[in-house]
Amino acid sequence: MPGRADLVESRMRENRTYGLGREGSGRPLPYLHPTLAPYFSAGCSADQEARWFVARHEVYIIMKIVVFTGAGISRESGLRTFRDGDGLWEEYRIEDVCTTDAWNRRPNVVLDFYNARRRDVRAAQPNAAHMAIASLEGPGRIVRVITQNIDDLHERAGSSDVLHLHGLITKMHGSGDDELVDCPGDIQIGDVDRLSRQYRPHVVFFGEAVPNMAIALQTAWEADIMLVVGSTLAVYPAASVVEETHAERLWIVDPEFPDNLSIKRRWARRQVEYIGKPATQGTPQAVQEILGVAGCASRAAH
Ligand SMILES: NC(=O)c1ccc[n+]([C@@H]2O[C@H](COP(=O)([O-])OP(=O)(O)OC[C@H]3O[C@@H](n4cnc5c(N)ncnc54)[C@H](O)[C@@H]3O)[C@@H](O)[C@H]2O)c1
Repeated sequence: MPGRADLVESRMRENRTYGLGREGSGRPLPYLHPTLAPYFSAGCSADQEARWFVARHEVYIIMKIVVFTGAGISRESGLRTFRDGDGLWEEYRIEDVCTTDAWNRRPNVVLDFYNARRRDVRAAQPNAAHMAIASLEGPGRIVRVITQNIDDLHERAGSSDVLHLHGLITKMHGSGDDELVDCPGDIQIGDVDRLSRQYRPHVVFFGEAVPNMAIALQTAWEADIMLVVGSTLAVYPAASVVEETHAERLWIVDPEFPDNLSIKRRWARRQVEYIGKPATQGTPQAVQEILGVAGCASRAAH
């Protein structure tokens, strides 16, 4: 069993969780890495040894929190998921609306499908789950939301760092072009970019590469805490963000526990908190618990 100081020092050497403060910089010492929490007593009084170590080395602690969301988080905002009983795949076939083949053969059908999704998104409002996630941001915490969703509800709730794995329905680009432009209304056949290429929604079709995957994996790898809300974790490569994370504590909010054996195996030795509730109830609870870990350290460090 390593001593407390050894543990803090080894985490520092990894150089992924902590920053170094300078004497007199006035930097607060607010947050404690969750792996160190057991070394502080339950009543949140500071453990002398760890506190002295932190003070001696002028360390301030930053917690990296990654939130991974799927269609379930937006369901209570009125946006249907794909796979649930009343999901969109009950009404549409993936191969008709969400593949490059469909786009090449019948672009009008694909445009109709996504024009309807965009109208739904514009009519929807962020819910209590999106709001709670935005409230995670604060001093001593770096928060990145990695979402599979193509809606903009995280941004509208106030999250400042949102990485969309599968695109953003309020943007469009000319086929084969990376330059994104705002998409004010429906896209029609004949709407073209400056090179006369048909505009398509900024959505990653099944079978296409996921351009933000590398940065998502890097972020997940560096995470201290991960919160997963409303995803079956069945869509790859996106689900590998959760599979590959090095976060030592995970929270999952979903009425159904994601039935992904590979991920369960990987998580076997992690501390996983499962909250089997709808997103609007479960996410504020998870956020409170996550902030509780941080808040305990904050009080301990002062
Ligand atoms: N809002 C959107 O942008 C949107 C909507 C539909 C589908 N999609 C796309 O669908 C793909 C499918 O992946 P997915 O795994 O995210 O969705 P999914 O449809 O496969 O799974 C939805 C998950 O949400 C859970 N869920 C249902 N109601 C919930 C609630 N009220 N609160 C919390 N969880 C709830 C379900 O149990 C399930 O695990 C994604 O790649 C995404 O691009 C996006």
